[in-house]
Amino acid sequence: MNDFEFYNSTRIIFGKGSIAKLSKRVPKKATVMLLYGGGSIKENGVYDQVISALKKHNVIEFGGIEANPDYATLLKAIKQARKKKVDFLLAVGGGSVIDGTKFVAIAAPNADVEPWDILTRGLAKELKQALPLGTVLTLPATGSEFNHNSVISRRETEEKYSFASDLVFPKFSILDPETTYSLPKNQLRNGLVDAYVHVTEQYLTYPAGAIVQDRQSEALLLAIIEMAPAVLKMDPPDYNARANFMWACSNALNHLIGVGVPQDWATHRIGHELTALYGLAHAESLAVVLPWLLWYKRDQKRDKLLQYGYRVMGQKTQKYSERIDRTIEATAAFFQSIGMPTTLTAFGIDPDEAAARVQARWEARGWVQGEYRDITGADAAAILLLSR
Ligand code: NZQ
Ligand code: ZN
Repeated sequence: MNDFEFYNSTRIIFGKGSIAKLSKRVPKKATVMLLYGGGSIKENGVYDQVISALKKHNVIEFGGIEANPDYATLLKAIKQARKKKVDFLLAVGGGSVIDGTKFVAIAAPNADVEPWDILTRGLAKELKQALPLGTVLTLPATGSEFNHNSVISRRETEEKYSFASDLVFPKFSILDPETTYSLPKNQLRNGLVDAYVHVTEQYLTYPAGAIVQDRQSEALLLAIIEMAPAVLKMDPPDYNARANFMWACSNALNHLIGVGVPQDWATHRIGHELTALYGLAHAESLAVVLPWLLWYKRDQKRDKLLQYGYRVMGQKTQKYSERIDRTIEATAAFFQSIGMPTTLTAFGIDPDEAAARVQARWEARGWVQGEYRDITGADAAAILLLSR
């Protein structure tokens, strides 16, 4: 196992009716900025619950944060936060609202820093201050409510960048599974796939002798497969399945399973380009990459693919090459079984074009990715060419 430090300072407040607990968690004297998305929280009653819990607080609102939060929108929020001297941010929504709020949190008090540099020049690690934030999660998927990452899109230049900083761990995150009842099926499917791929990015690499992390990862993958049919149940939704769903997604990317082990993240990096260029939802972009990346990297990932196949996918043949084939097929079949396509062509995207565009952008930025840092633009292109 590799050496590591583990830190996660987020308090999780989980359960039915837990939004009411906001009144105790948000500082009494703070000027609070409530940030939300395109309006789902006004339709499903979450907004009313938040406002009722904060009736004694001084709250200003910033709505309209898009899915794949846009840099230009967030600049407006930063400006407003500075002008109104906001001292606490409350994100109410999915990963996009939470990530956008984290960006506001770090950019607003650092007025001498160009916000774009935080994303593109790795400045986040050097900054000393951020506004405190809390979250009310309404879409289980990203784990943003329980981690220090943030992913921001810039429509103007078709770019998508991320930053990480311990300063933006939420002070608390409220996880009420009932908030997921209004999610359409495609968002539930997206959440299941995103969480699944978060685990594979930290697990399907090479053995590091990390028995605890491996078994935790396998437990999460098995749990996601097991709960998926019940999570997708709509009328009526299954409370317990939604509760497990929320907790699985939070655990898939709260940094715990990734300690002391190599990590890949090439599927995410290629996927982010597909979202920026073609507008695929985040999880859609992952599902059209992961199975093909596993094919492409099957020799380097051999030992972990065999372990994953045996322990998670029930593939026990001693013919190793065949086990790897069946395991990758089973992964794609799981995604398809919950309604998630696994090829670019299924989304009407030409693999040749996508491969050329992604390769050019990777090379221009000098990106390499993967657990051996050997996946170049040419490899990203080769992977995308398989996705047909
Ligand atoms: O904007 P509203 O009206 O709220 O609608 C949203 C949005 O259109 C809707 N929604 C959310 N909760 C709902 C709901 N609709 C009905 N009922 C509810 N309870 O769902 C749509 C998608 O929301 P979004 O927040 O975009 O989805 P998700 O949580 O999947 O977040 C995706 C973003 O997170 C980033 C992605 O790249 C993408 O930008 N990621 C963040 C990560 C992190 N911070 O650690 C890691 C991930 O790998 C990912 O990259
Ligand atoms: Zn993801």
